[in-house]
Amino acid sequence: MKESLRLDRYVASVTDYSRSDAKKLIKSGDVAVDGKVLTDPSQAVAADAQLEIDGQFVRQAEHRYFMLHKPQDYVCANRDRRFATVMDLLDEDNLDRLIIAGRLDLDTTGLVLLTDNGQWAHQVMSPRTRCYKRYRVQLEDPVPESAIDRFAKGVFLEQEKRRTLPARMKLLGEREALLEICEGRFHQVKRMFASIGNTVVGLHREAIGKLELDSALGEGEYRSLTEYEVAVVLSGTLE
Ligand code: URA
Repeated sequence: MKESLRLDRYVASVTDYSRSDAKKLIKSGDVAVDGKVLTDPSQAVAADAQLEIDGQFVRQAEHRYFMLHKPQDYVCANRDRRFATVMDLLDEDNLDRLIIAGRLDLDTTGLVLLTDNGQWAHQVMSPRTRCYKRYRVQLEDPVPESAIDRFAKGVFLEQEKRRTLPARMKLLGEREALLEICEGRFHQVKRMFASIGNTVVGLHREAIGKLELDSALGEGEYRSLTEYEVAVVLSGTLE
């Protein structure tokens, strides 16, 4: 089956329109798909549908999007004086133009997204869109069931005045959990567990929004995202 996605997401992903502007545009009858005007922003369209806005054909902006399986000991930065950076793993031109859409710590492994599309990167990272990132966490001490509720309510991280946004946790074993968070505060996962008296000893990011790390990518390997993946990473998120 051909991949499909909501029309308003499709418009926002191939243009500079925000999701809410895309909705207005669609409702006002200015958007046609494969030659037919569609006015319902929630209508599903094929990911490769031919889009027209105000009678003009719109092509996917020529942005670059990559997923990387980050190994330990690579820093998420464009340059670093002490450590190798994730950019050292990419065989691409104009690396300076790439933005890391959500950094991982030096010792964290897993999914890192890189792009030269600032708006997309912002949507992936902003807590406002509620784009959840899923981490597999190894802990020094057993995690009590009660931690699930505490994280769901939000916890106070040291030196911070605002609780963390609701997080979802599933315990996989005594000392292993899957944690989904939609913010990227400094060392957030480690500090959340510190707030309940535990220590993270292993951290791996498995997914960002609906996008899972491709299991065919070994540590240090990367690939381009498909057009569908570019759009789907934000599906199910808010504006
Ligand atoms: N939270 C952390 O503590 N570290 C990471 O690398 C990512 C999330």
